[in-house]
Amino acid sequence: MNDARAVRLTVNGRAYDISAPPNETILDFLRYRLGLVGTKNGCDTGNCGACTVLVDGKAVNSCLVLAVEMDGAGITTIEGIGSPDRLHPLQQAFVDHGVIQCGYCAPGMIMAAKSLLDEEPGPTEEEIRSAIAGNLCRCTGYLAIIKAIASAAGIMRGEK
Ligand code: FES
Ligand code: FES
Repeated sequence: MNDARAVRLTVNGRAYDISAPPNETILDFLRYRLGLVGTKNGCDTGNCGACTVLVDGKAVNSCLVLAVEMDGAGITTIEGIGSPDRLHPLQQAFVDHGVIQCGYCAPGMIMAAKSLLDEEPGPTEEEIRSAIAGNLCRCTGYLAIIKAIASAAGIMRGEK
């Protein structure tokens, strides 16, 4: 018996018509079907934030979302916001502030931060902390991450 369902979605602006098995998460779809491995699998249970992507602009844990729920949705991954020769200001700020240590948390952190900055271009430190509260980092102690996000916000506002 085939329980797969037809789903139409976009990923980084590109449209896909897929046949989604009932148990396929968006995280697995992105990594294993599209090869978009920038989105990381840290826990597969919604506890680390490494798998954060944007769904219609909102940050979500892609390990908790099924592909069959995504009909009509627009998904943005870390690959969709910048490229190696043209980094997004958040990506550049993570590099400039030495945030990338093991780097495993960075894509999810950046996508959570992007969701915040798209909604609030001038966030307070508290708002930044709150936006990344679901994203774990085992390496940095978070201060550099918060500084990097605040710096990127300033650059995006044209201040520096
Ligand atoms: Fe999704 Fe950890 S892999 S929250
Ligand atoms: Fe290693 Fe954040 S840099 S988990």
